[in-house]
Amino acid sequence: MCGIVGAVASRNVQNILLEGLHRLEYRGYDSAGMAVLSEEGRLNRVRALGKVGALEARLGDSPLKGRVGIAHTRWATHGAPTEANAHPHQSGDSLAVVHNGIIENYETLKRELQGQGYVFTSETDTEVVAHLLAREYTLSQDLLTAVQKSVALLDGAFALGVIHRAQPDVLIGARQGSPLVIGVGIDEHFLASDQLALLQVTDRFIYLKEGDLVRMTAEQVEIFEQGERLITSTNERPIQIFEHAQDAASKGDYRHFMLKEIHEQSRVLAATLEGRLNGDRVLVRSFGSEAETLFSQVKQVQIVACGTSYHAGMVARYWIERLAGIPAAVEVASEFRYRPVVVADGTLFVTLSQSGETADTLSALRYAQSLGGFLGSLAICNVPGSSLVRESDLSLMTMAGPEIGVASTKAFTTQLVGLMLLTLALRRMRGGDDAGEAEVVRDLRALPGLVTKALAMDSEIERLSEAFADKHNALFLGRGTQFPIALEGALKLKEISYIHAEAYPAGELKHGPLALVDADMPVVAVAPNDELIEKLKSNLQEVRARGGELFVFADENISLEESEGVRVLRMPHVSELLAPILYTLPLQLLSYHVAVLKGTDVDQPRNLAKSVTVE
Ligand code: G6P
Repeated sequence: MCGIVGAVASRNVQNILLEGLHRLEYRGYDSAGMAVLSEEGRLNRVRALGKVGALEARLGDSPLKGRVGIAHTRWATHGAPTEANAHPHQSGDSLAVVHNGIIENYETLKRELQGQGYVFTSETDTEVVAHLLAREYTLSQDLLTAVQKSVALLDGAFALGVIHRAQPDVLIGARQGSPLVIGVGIDEHFLASDQLALLQVTDRFIYLKEGDLVRMTAEQVEIFEQGERLITSTNERPIQIFEHAQDAASKGDYRHFMLKEIHEQSRVLAATLEGRLNGDRVLVRSFGSEAETLFSQVKQVQIVACGTSYHAGMVARYWIERLAGIPAAVEVASEFRYRPVVVADGTLFVTLSQSGETADTLSALRYAQSLGGFLGSLAICNVPGSSLVRESDLSLMTMAGPEIGVASTKAFTTQLVGLMLLTLALRRMRGGDDAGEAEVVRDLRALPGLVTKALAMDSEIERLSEAFADKHNALFLGRGTQFPIALEGALKLKEISYIHAEAYPAGELKHGPLALVDADMPVVAVAPNDELIEKLKSNLQEVRARGGELFVFADENISLEESEGVRVLRMPHVSELLAPILYTLPLQLLSYHVAVLKGTDVDQPRNLAKSVTVE
């Protein structure tokens, strides 16, 4: 997804912007560009299709020198990925703009501007903003006023960064529906769509709110609420220190971020539990000061999320109904947000998101709030200060740290831990017994150790991956809480190895997918030692009888023999409730190794983005 970096400093900004773009590469993009105002008052721009490395090579040939600049990685929404469509966009040679998000009324504005003589050189909605700004600048001769007037005419969700050669010491930003953060340096200021882009220059940030406009020079920052009211108190937009580990944006000794992040799971699961448990009990207040009051009134739970986060929600549905005895429903955000919803009395609205900026999830939250009948909202999220967290009544941070690989791994398992904490908190508020809670808490505390054990299967799974690398299809089976894990395993394989994979609840096998099973279709089954194991065993027989090659991940204590066409991979024994967390790990490793064998771009798979901030 698109990324913005901007800087106004008393030193050359090219390399700061370039490093920022590199740090945003993980979000997924198709082209990149940069515009810098030179000391002589010229606006110079370099753009390139493809990776930031391609832009860097061009900058090597013709460097951009200057103290004010903006840069961008683009993920095409309007117009193909081409150099002409790459940002920054200009109107003439005076001003440049970078933009994240979507301008919904761009066609109307484009016709109007064309009628006034503005000539368009790209297919983007962003160029409309450039010409609009130029028109408003001609009228006011002031960049801030031009941005204020232009933003008022724009419909949609966006974040902007703007520079103008007549005001060579000013950088302007606008936030409306897409994230934008200010980095505070010493006699320099920065702008970015994600603070990660700026960690090499500062750890001090001001998080802009919806509707904010900012006018920055090297010395000063002026923020205008709703684009108009100048904020005078630092309490309203305080400077916050970013505390995530500084090395999160580097791969260390790992070949890919994804592998590094898979191996971080023991540590980050422990970090997600830290401070949330008191002896054998969950601290309900971890969810916020109002959590006890709110949770005690909960009669139902509605979970909404996208992608991998949605799979975490599916697991939680089983947990909440089983342990807390409360009905729970899960839905993908892009469906929920557009349908008439009947809100049952006492329903808690829960969103799950790694980024906290996924457009559909955020819109679903806003839609739920507009309906009025929900008891309150809770966000389980990995990014403090994200829109989802700020707009929810309650929140619980997963402590995964920045996740760079587009395919989500550690964010998923930390979400599951967060959801088990929620399940236990709801259970307690409904009068659940202490002993039952203590048992699960003990298992949770033991989980990071089991994760380390399961990750030791890495080389065994690497060997196993050879059986998949030349296949075009794969089938994943699970029952109960392992069905969402099968879905997640199939999603991982699709995302990074481009192998078509499907997941089925094992009991559904005979209602369709069995027709596809033959020697070319490897079948992966997740089979912990739970009450459904005997049923799953007969499903596996159904596969074997059709010549399908089986790979079964099963508890070390289970009696399941290896035979021709049946590989059994032994998993450390884990409690049935927490099994979905542990069984996710080998499936992550499997998709990783298959992708490496196939030579795909593991961390930035084609066509996908880390954080989908457009609909
Ligand atoms: C994108 C990512 C997925 C992620 C989904 C939801 O599709 O590629 O990995 O699961 O967005 O993102 P969120 O940040 O809301 O969890």
